[in-house]
Amino acid sequence: MATATKDVEKQLETLRDEIRYHEHRYYVLDQPELSDAEFDRLMDKLKKLEAEHPELVTPDSPTQRVGGKPREGFVKVRHSSPMLSLDNTYSEDELRAWERRVHELSGRKDVEYVCELKLDGMSLALHYEDGRLVRGLTRGDGTTGEDVTANVRTVRSVPLSISKETLKKAGMPLDFEVRGELLMPIGAFKKLNAEREKQGLAAFANPRNFAAGTVRQLEPSVTASRPLDYFGYMLLQKGRTYFDRHWDTIDALEKVGFKTNINRKLAANMEEVWDFIQHWEGRRESLPYEIDGIVVKVDRTSLQEELGYTGKAPRWAIAYKYAARGAVTKINDIIPQVGRTGKLTPVAHLEPVPIGGTTVSRATLHNMDEIERLGVKIGDWVQVERGGDVIPKVVSVVEDKDHPRGHKSFQMPERCPVCGGHVVRTEGEADHRCVNTNCPAKLRESVLHFATRGVMNIEGMGDALVSQLTDRGMVKNVADIYRLTKDDLLQLERMGERSAQNVLDEIEASKKLPLERVIYGLGIRFVGERTAEFLAEHFGSMDNLMNASEEELQEVNEVGPRIAASIVEFFQEPRNRDLVKQLRDAGLTFAGKKKRRGMKLAGKTFVLTGTLNNYTREQAKKMIEDAGGRVSGSVSKKTDYLVAGSDAGSKRDKAKELGVKVIDEKEMEELVGAYS
Ligand code: IVH
Repeated sequence: MATATKDVEKQLETLRDEIRYHEHRYYVLDQPELSDAEFDRLMDKLKKLEAEHPELVTPDSPTQRVGGKPREGFVKVRHSSPMLSLDNTYSEDELRAWERRVHELSGRKDVEYVCELKLDGMSLALHYEDGRLVRGLTRGDGTTGEDVTANVRTVRSVPLSISKETLKKAGMPLDFEVRGELLMPIGAFKKLNAEREKQGLAAFANPRNFAAGTVRQLEPSVTASRPLDYFGYMLLQKGRTYFDRHWDTIDALEKVGFKTNINRKLAANMEEVWDFIQHWEGRRESLPYEIDGIVVKVDRTSLQEELGYTGKAPRWAIAYKYAARGAVTKINDIIPQVGRTGKLTPVAHLEPVPIGGTTVSRATLHNMDEIERLGVKIGDWVQVERGGDVIPKVVSVVEDKDHPRGHKSFQMPERCPVCGGHVVRTEGEADHRCVNTNCPAKLRESVLHFATRGVMNIEGMGDALVSQLTDRGMVKNVADIYRLTKDDLLQLERMGERSAQNVLDEIEASKKLPLERVIYGLGIRFVGERTAEFLAEHFGSMDNLMNASEEELQEVNEVGPRIAASIVEFFQEPRNRDLVKQLRDAGLTFAGKKKRRGMKLAGKTFVLTGTLNNYTREQAKKMIEDAGGRVSGSVSKKTDYLVAGSDAGSKRDKAKELGVKVIDEKEMEELVGAYS
């Protein structure tokens, strides 16, 4: 019996390998060797054999791509290291400025760059253990993603397993993480969208949204039926870049069977980078998928580490965004829209026009100043542009014999179109605002802000749901979210038993989010994500924050008089204090970890250079900051210490020149250790 099983196992593995080989030829290389029918026959054979021996089915078998069981929402998983985004540049000058900064910070001029297409999809992390795909995570908020493994398995260009020999040959470890872009080719997008419209379903705005919606389907067989593609561009081990050079990373990924973008280039200098950018600018329409620019990355990992990161993006990479694509169309009307802060934004309602794969029917006109600057009237023909994610905007009025001018001027209403409250324009400000604090439009927008990803993360509480809840008066402030019951939700349109339960689970889960999210969620003017973090860290509780004076608030990192005044104003309003109380009663997190920063290094500025033996750049930076010090990127007269690791370059020379104290890793440890 044992040997018989062994035989079948062997037979199964051979068959699987054969299929994997052909999948790779077909889906990754686009060079099939078999006809579809021949391929299907192989697959049928495998299915049959597996059906006879269900105990021998493995999760990485090609048969397992096609839809497993439906899932109950997605589990959230922390990323091995944050999934960052990229800073953008829009001109050659900006790109050159970035290059100068790279030279300055690294102290080198001979920097090589890798140029890649900036694929307009969604980033996705794939975890492999022992060469097998074990997890697929969306980017989520960058720190935590959603486990979409069942859906990722259905993507044909994602290898489900890679043999040890193959990995070894490519110099790759057995446990690793690949990050890359998941996307939907334009052709498939158009076809599927047309089908959806025919069925009366809402069309997706662009291929990126379609891909994102597809990988987050709760029913993997739906994902399986839609052609998604995946391109790898990063290789990590335990959250850190694996190879010494980015160029080698992509080669290795390609060798082991990932789809990588063949349109890449190793550039010896910025001239070559610029050539690549220009080369693709005119050709991007010929690609089967959308790109919105070019990504330029410093090739050497050691240099990347030296350059480090700003808040959300690496300093060692930059995106060059192609100019927005535009079209000429007619303004049928201009209608003000009321936002969370009560701001009225004039929105142009357009004759629908396709721009870069999306139909555009609205464009922002920002405010009255902009309308006057453009001299735009209702009935005018205008140039409309859309850049990537940004809301389309009107850039100029077009006037010629085919495009006669419109005649009707737009006036901002004196009363809010949503609540009838007074609309005012404060001296010196460009914006008109509705002054009624209870304006339902503000309510709707503030509930949306509260629920959104990156704030309280209540998945499923999007536009449609929030509108219903606020329109029906079921949610009058954000605390009401925590009073919703299943019966409440079931009264709403398009809300079944399962979705209602999902929303309730999400609401429940949001209570565990840390204090900084709650602070951010309150929607205090000028208090963004980062400020909320500093506030939570400094005050350690909502009560301390609520009772802080303007002076105390200004002790917090990056909080100046404007933000401090806004916070005090917010908490002075009794309705806001009451709201905070309701949130507390609902069980949200009101206490945080007050981080005790050491003080002895306060006021001291450090610069790090070269490779440290025991710490990554980020770790060293954190140690110094925890002891109250500051870490800066470049050496100046204000620098107190230069921490020089091995192969420190020009920064050490500069420090010596300026008389800055140069210390080694050990001395840094002592400084930090002694005072922290
Ligand atoms: S590298 C820290 N390479 O663009 C490195 N990103 O705007 C960040 N993207 O979130 C990613 N093509 O989803 C990289 N060749 C490419 C890319 C790429 C598209 C996306 C990615 C990222 C976003 C940032």
